[in-house]
Amino acid sequence: MDRLRERLTEAGQSHLLQFWNELSPEDQAEMSQDLEGMNFKEINGFFKSAMETSCQTKQEKVDSRMEPVPREVLGSVTRDRESVKDWEKEGLRCIAQNKVAVLLLAGGQGTRLGVSYPKGMYDVSLPSHKTLFQIQAERILKLQQLAEQQHNTKCCIPWYIMTSGRTMESTKEYFSKHNYFGLSQDDVVFFQQGMLPAMDYSGKIILESKGKLSMAPDGNGGLYRALGTQKIIVDMERRGISCIHVYCVDNILVKVADPAFVGFCALKGADCGAKVVEKTNPTEAVGVVCKVDGRYQVVEYSEITLATAERRSADGRLMFNAGNVANHFFSLTFLRDIVNIHEPQLQHHVAQKKIPYVDTQGQLIKPDKPNGIKMEKFVFDIFQFAKTFVVYEVLREDEFSPLKNADSQDGKDNPTTARHALMSLHHRWVLNAGGHFIDENGTRVPAIPSLKDGTDLPIKCEISPLVSYGGEGLEGLVKGREFRPTLVIDKHGLHELVKNGL
Ligand code: UTP
Repeated sequence: MDRLRERLTEAGQSHLLQFWNELSPEDQAEMSQDLEGMNFKEINGFFKSAMETSCQTKQEKVDSRMEPVPREVLGSVTRDRESVKDWEKEGLRCIAQNKVAVLLLAGGQGTRLGVSYPKGMYDVSLPSHKTLFQIQAERILKLQQLAEQQHNTKCCIPWYIMTSGRTMESTKEYFSKHNYFGLSQDDVVFFQQGMLPAMDYSGKIILESKGKLSMAPDGNGGLYRALGTQKIIVDMERRGISCIHVYCVDNILVKVADPAFVGFCALKGADCGAKVVEKTNPTEAVGVVCKVDGRYQVVEYSEITLATAERRSADGRLMFNAGNVANHFFSLTFLRDIVNIHEPQLQHHVAQKKIPYVDTQGQLIKPDKPNGIKMEKFVFDIFQFAKTFVVYEVLREDEFSPLKNADSQDGKDNPTTARHALMSLHHRWVLNAGGHFIDENGTRVPAIPSLKDGTDLPIKCEISPLVSYGGEGLEGLVKGREFRPTLVIDKHGLHELVKNGL
């Protein structure tokens, strides 16, 4: 204990033991175990450099150093339509050769959504009530099947799932309870990212209760350290993986291991690729992929002036329009270099937060304005190290609808918007495959729905990923037929649910 006390004093963190004598022996044991495992020198160093970098970046806008993504590194599902089939073919070939893995970032705390369990377990009230995890698992299963059919071979897409101290146990339990949704247990690999303490503005670690430090995951860029410490790179090498698709748990439309994206990146010989959607509104608070001083990075809206955000190219589009959707391709060679060489150079970003704390009187305080910081690395911080970087532009309505917030009226990125985005995509799949919808009077619903009373409700339609990964294979089921919503197509067939419980 004396040694610990000494270490804390040396690091300027001795306040953490202020309530030591009031703790029960069990709480004391737990707290000393937590403290023993921490490297205070390193944490103080992270704080110092994160604060310095944050002060610098706050002052300076990067406008004059920015360049948009050049056309030659850009692939676009709309502008290069004739190439997409070739990219997809190449991606499926890589999958069939067992070279592709997917990596899910699921270590976040989901504070804005405000549920106590991992976000991947959230049910947005689709007719099937599938959760985000189940939808993603079934997309992987379907893609394996498509690659197997095309190449007449057995294949597997390993799924690496990054969790944090707070989400690990419940995530694992959930998958086990649901039998890994039909995937092989050996090919679903859970690993845990690191945690860092929350600090006040003077660098003191915040106590969440008298015997507990306030801890938070170290950001989705905590991935790179975890890939090394948890021996994930070694596991990927053992399996012969060469391409990794990294994505976030909250995007209900995510095309997991998207063969067209993987194939595009592979054919371009990229070590790093970013999927983007077109930013159309200059003031939308989305980070844009661009070059700064000749290197790729994501520039946040707050780092540029409005004038730059509003600049347009000759074709009328915003000049900086490559909206980042946290959906990336990495070669294994690149990831290995990141883990072995570059990771320690990455700075933490500072997020100012309202952090509940115990004051010197031992009272629990819930602040109403930010009182401290959390330190996070971001998954895109490594773009700067890429030698061959490519950008792949997709349609937002087909591929991006994140679940960030709880439902509220006129809200954005919430369960309702996610559910509507998925149903509206599946509605379009049915129309593209030659099917039609009729209303309760038997009248055909126009393909482009009119906005009745200002409400923009989609046709209720859900297609299981086990039936179609990206809209393929539906003609035989729907062509020339009329359906009354709610339409559900799953592995057992077509169902028109009479009772609309949604
Ligand atoms: P967000 O930054 O949107 O955070 O994460 P969040 O945890 O989902 O929600 P809030 O901000 O607390 O409301 C984007 C993605 O990065 C993952 C999340 O799980 C999500 O998939 N993430 C975030 C991590 O894996 N680790 C982290 O430390 C933070």
